[in-house]
Amino acid sequence: MKENKSVKSNSDGVMGSLGVPKEKAKDFKGTLKRLLGYLKPQKTNFILVIIFAIFSTIFSIVGPKITGLAITRVVEGVMGKFAVMSKNSDLVKSGKIGNIKLPGLDFPYIERIILILLGLYLLSALFGYLQNYIMAGVAQKTVYNLRKDVNHKLSLLPLKFYDARTHGEILSRVTNDIDNISTTLQQSLTQLITSVITIIGIIVMMLSISPIMTLVVVLTLPLYIVATASVAKYSQKHFAEQQKQIGALNGHVEEMYTGNNIIKSFGRKKDCIEKFETINDKLYNSGWKAQFMSGMIMPMMTFIGNIGYVIICVFGGYLATLGKISIGDIQAFIQYSSQFTQPIVQAANITNIIQSTIASSERVFEILDEIEELPDASPNTIIEFPKGAVKFEHVDFSYKSDESLIENMNIDVKPGHTIAIVGPTGAGKTTLVNLLMRFYEIDAGKISI
Ligand SMILES: Nc1ncnc2c1ncn2[C@@H]1O[C@H](COP(=O)(O)OP(=O)(O)OP(=O)(O)O)[C@@H](O)[C@H]1O
Ligand SMILES: [Mg+2]
Repeated sequence: MKENKSVKSNSDGVMGSLGVPKEKAKDFKGTLKRLLGYLKPQKTNFILVIIFAIFSTIFSIVGPKITGLAITRVVEGVMGKFAVMSKNSDLVKSGKIGNIKLPGLDFPYIERIILILLGLYLLSALFGYLQNYIMAGVAQKTVYNLRKDVNHKLSLLPLKFYDARTHGEILSRVTNDIDNISTTLQQSLTQLITSVITIIGIIVMMLSISPIMTLVVVLTLPLYIVATASVAKYSQKHFAEQQKQIGALNGHVEEMYTGNNIIKSFGRKKDCIEKFETINDKLYNSGWKAQFMSGMIMPMMTFIGNIGYVIICVFGGYLATLGKISIGDIQAFIQYSSQFTQPIVQAANITNIIQSTIASSERVFEILDEIEELPDASPNTIIEFPKGAVKFEHVDFSYKSDESLIENMNIDVKPGHTIAIVGPTGAGKTTLVNLLMRFYEIDAGKISI
């Protein structure tokens, strides 16, 4: 009974932003370049996606600022009313205020702003739709080509390749890893583009409202990083342990089910149950710690966000009393600052997703780089009536390069001979027949029929 190989524990992985260890690619740059090579035929479409993403984001980002204009105008209208009323307070007291014409709300202006907003959000949605529509094509076409290449390659690989790997491993590269690439191209990449543009856009909008308040928002950013990193430092250990115990648990369970007969016949039931319980306890311990710690990150982010919110409200209110900023601008600013952390967290998460995607691509490319089976010599001679003359001359062969199996083997079989191959188990009898069928390539010498 061997250990279950399909369960990988990546305890030495890189940290995810929420403390989840991620797989790391060996050659990030090279693999990324190669993956981009697959995107190359879709270059024009890809550029279109980026342009549409920019438009979609810009149109939605100016929304709060324009809403702010309407709010300022409403506030001005109301304040104007109060001003007139307080100037004529004696009339108000005697109930004769109705005789005075009060300044009203500027409804045509507000109406215009609402229409502009509607148009902007419609445009934003339209560009968002186009962006996703084109990206779906780009992503699917790319993985389509990748899948085709892998399938073609698999048909060219020698038996040796399949011997050295479990079916699960090859299957997981062809399905899971390619799926992973597909989802990233489809979702994460567009999200990354949108997040980056949103971050830049929000900063520009905030700066246009108030550089000092923008500074306050930006100053809260290190708090997020420190908070996340300090929690992640502790949770990483537990995540790695959890991963390890899951691997151990799966291996144990698989072994116990497949070897159930043996366990029963040797009376090992009690030991097996005990071992299971030990692993399960360890998994429980590392599991709840890891989950609890990573679960703490979100509330912490919200807490820091709320503190920043309070500071902005107080500071903005103060600036408004000085007349340095309008009410509408403050509300727009608050809206921007609350939208600010989300794309940052999203971008941070996506960089992790991209890490694991590159690791996936690397595994797929590894298949594409495998040494192919040697093509048959051409022209190929087909022996119409084989007479049974088989000759092995100085044949060397081994399955693994560091363990020699057959060295300088010479066999000369004349037509009509019957040969018995005798030897202890593992001597190489089956191997001899495998070589005759050319299931494997010999290292040296010659086999002729
Ligand atoms: N696909 C393989 N990859 C790596 N090593 C292999 C492979 N097949 C066989 N071996 C190793 O090569 C050696 C010879 O194996 P082979 O199957 O030819 O022995 P055999 O003489 O047929 O034994 P048996 O009598 O048990 O059938 C053994 O040490 C075996 O472990
Ligand atoms: Mg055999």
